[in-house]
Amino acid sequence: MTDSGIPTARLGDTGPEVGVQGLGCMGMNFAVYGPSDEKESRATLERALELGVTLYDTADAYGDGENERFLAPFFKAHRDEVVIATKFALMIPPGEPTRRIIRNDPQYIRQAVEGSLKRLDVDVIDLYYMHRRDVNVPIEQTVGVMAELVREGKVKHLGLSEVTADELRAAQGVHPIAAVQSEWSLFSRDIEARVVPAARELGVALVPYSPLGRGFLTGSFANAETDLGAGDFRRHQPRFTGENAAANLTLLDPIRTVAEAHGASLGQIALAWVQQQATVHGLPVVPIPGTRKPTRVEENTAAARIVLTEEELAALEPIASKVAGDRYADMRFSSAGRE
Ligand SMILES: NC(=O)c1ccc[n+]([C@@H]2O[C@H](COP(=O)([O-])OP(=O)(O)OC[C@H]3O[C@@H](n4cnc5c(N)ncnc54)[C@H](OP(=O)(O)O)[C@@H]3O)[C@@H](O)[C@H]2O)c1
Repeated sequence: MTDSGIPTARLGDTGPEVGVQGLGCMGMNFAVYGPSDEKESRATLERALELGVTLYDTADAYGDGENERFLAPFFKAHRDEVVIATKFALMIPPGEPTRRIIRNDPQYIRQAVEGSLKRLDVDVIDLYYMHRRDVNVPIEQTVGVMAELVREGKVKHLGLSEVTADELRAAQGVHPIAAVQSEWSLFSRDIEARVVPAARELGVALVPYSPLGRGFLTGSFANAETDLGAGDFRRHQPRFTGENAAANLTLLDPIRTVAEAHGASLGQIALAWVQQQATVHGLPVVPIPGTRKPTRVEENTAAARIVLTEEELAALEPIASKVAGDRYADMRFSSAGRE
């Protein structure tokens, strides 16, 4: 337990101990999910730390490096209290929000880590993830270079995002992996078939991203399509558009029923469900919900103390199989199809 009462969990057999809920920092200073207020984002970071959140998640791709730069002063002020997680491999071409350029080659990784260290203004990155798999580069080679970064003191622990179970096994043969970061929520449960069992077997933690379904599971959208602003990335997400969005809104009903029974919000039930997967599957699970608002970080961390009954878990069970629309507009840039 941290002082504030949030439990802690170890990131795999070899990783650091962190608050059982981390913070996704992606949209803090650029308008990926609507406009951000930097002052409020900074207050959110401080409030999260007070509440026992220690794992902070960013990537070099977020705002083309600007997200890492934005976080640097917060990390500097609290260097010994925070676990900094960032990622390499993925670039978003300007003006093409759904396309991705993915690179895992040694030269690129070496260039990327220097860029992140500089923007974050730190000597070492606590947890360095491969953001996406470049299928043209053997994963053993990629992880081999990442392991060299550990030996050189530039990185402490390694993570992989959106990998398959086989890729995780191959990677673990080269160097211990602390965490797999993949989408996992009441709407996205694909990883339970193979990735989660492999992680449990190998002593690797799961860090679920988009645990609130990119906000959809909070019930914040009366009309998920028209409620999104012009530059909002979710306008390109199949689950937020047209008939899919309307159908998906009806899937929130059982979450609402469980929320009423607990006097909780829908988002808290969605997060409690993800947190409880640690017990269901027997491995450490540290979700990283993203928010830019201090009151929401209070609400989200409070969900770590909610325990759902077997009946409630059963009522929530059918939701994922009914979700309309893929996780991404272009599934080639995820692990889908390779699983
Ligand atoms: N590895 C990957 O490929 C990958 C992909 C996507 C994301 N990520 C990481 O995962 C983190 C979280 O994922 P995500 O941001 O995509 O999705 P998410 O955490 O499921 O949802 C974030 C959205 O929910 C809203 N929200 C948060 N708490 C809320 C609350 N209590 N009530 C109502 N709305 C609430 C946020 O709005 P406000 O900010 O306005 O509160 C934001 O729009 C990211 O920040 C990023 O670090 C990784």
